[in-house]
Amino acid sequence: MNESKVLLAHADVKGIETLSVYERHGGYATLKRALTEMTPADVVQAVLDSGLRGRGGAGFPTGRKWSFLPNDGRERLLVCNADEGEPGTFKDHFLIHRLPHLLVEGMTLASYAIGAPRAYIYLRGEFLQGYELLEQAIAEATAAGYLGQHVCGTDYSLELKLYRGAGAYICGEETALLDSLEGRRGIPRMKPPFPATAGLYGLPTVVNNVETLCAVVPIVEHGGEWFKAMGTEKSPGTKIYSMSGALKRPGNYEFEMGVPLSDLIEAAGGLMAGRTFKAVVPGGASAAYLTGEHIDIAMDYDTLAQAGTMLGSGGVIVLDDTVCIVSFTRRAMEFFRHESCGKCTPCREGTLWMDQVLTRLEEGIGTEADLDLLLDLADNIGGRTFCAFGDAAVAMVASSVRLFRQEYIAHFTHQGCPLQKERVG
Ligand SMILES: Cc1cc2nc3c(=O)[nH]c(=O)nc-3n(C[C@H](O)[C@H](O)[C@H](O)COP(=O)(O)O)c2cc1C
Ligand code: SF4
Repeated sequence: MNESKVLLAHADVKGIETLSVYERHGGYATLKRALTEMTPADVVQAVLDSGLRGRGGAGFPTGRKWSFLPNDGRERLLVCNADEGEPGTFKDHFLIHRLPHLLVEGMTLASYAIGAPRAYIYLRGEFLQGYELLEQAIAEATAAGYLGQHVCGTDYSLELKLYRGAGAYICGEETALLDSLEGRRGIPRMKPPFPATAGLYGLPTVVNNVETLCAVVPIVEHGGEWFKAMGTEKSPGTKIYSMSGALKRPGNYEFEMGVPLSDLIEAAGGLMAGRTFKAVVPGGASAAYLTGEHIDIAMDYDTLAQAGTMLGSGGVIVLDDTVCIVSFTRRAMEFFRHESCGKCTPCREGTLWMDQVLTRLEEGIGTEADLDLLLDLADNIGGRTFCAFGDAAVAMVASSVRLFRQEYIAHFTHQGCPLQKERVG
């Protein structure tokens, strides 16, 4: 399968991050047309027809999320989740750097559709250049009448605000994000109520990912059916896959959903000379491992879920035969231990214990009982925590013990990493 560039169609155009070049390539034409020829309900219908599923990780249908907003006269708000903290995922960062106006146009369309007079971008604190580019794009779009009072000369007005987070992974979870946006420490809220009924400042709020909101532009431009004709029946459209790890040309690649994993690896240049494929995590550090038997698996939400893993936000990390699974898994767990917000015990304590057990296994001083302990801990964290962070934290560990038990055992029979010893000689 070849690349299908929809969102990234103009990503390589020099200066596309500026308004003049974006407009020269058709930018804001869809917004102008929608605001003059379509009702907000028409825009919602186009997104419903497209079957677009949220690109932030959970894959929830976007049109349905927009339709959940109560009609009770309260002000509605739109929040763009641009926190992108998932290790292995870097497509929102790329979209913001190359196509900030695509995000602004998508957010304006989405805000018009749901009737929001105010919208917010919650941007990862470390994305300093992205902050400057978005600030410039918002200023340019406001001066040109695509934001602010009377957007495109119509009765619709929108204020778009940019907010920088402080670099906590948990602030990507939508309710923690809302707390942080309100100026509090970002920790997940109890759900229900969901943001659709009580979100930012208690108002009905839609939270959508950067890629989701960017996809609204081509959907409204070409129609929902056009988008739905791409990809698979249950995962329509294109998706940007962040390819990283043991590849010759890591980067972001846009394909129709359901592209075979092997095609993605080939597009990213394949493995280094002399290396062999060992494993992949197909949805960032929160996903379970897959091995060689799944090299041609269709990269869509449902197929990956059936295989016991997930597409998540599409951060595909490829590991070759030089990678130590024990070390890689331990490093991922160190991340989760550090990022646990501490609100609930299974996650706060469990990630710490798992990190300790994995550390002694990596050092070659673990035992076979530690492997059962890891699985037991995973069972006691997964599905038992306040937010989905707990499931994310244990997926890679549990699958590593199931798929690579012998590699763990080799660590305590060799009193350390056999791969490392081989390399040192
Ligand atoms: C621990 C955790 C971290 C998350 N991080 C992000 C993130 O960085 N970006 C994102 O868009 N969604 C993230 N999500 C998912 C959001 O909670 C939410 O589902 C998403 O922003 C909704 O947007 P979508 O419907 O467009 O996918 C995270 C969820 C969890 C549980
Ligand atoms: S699961 Fe972890 S990140 Fe989520 S609320 Fe509990 S302690 Fe915080």
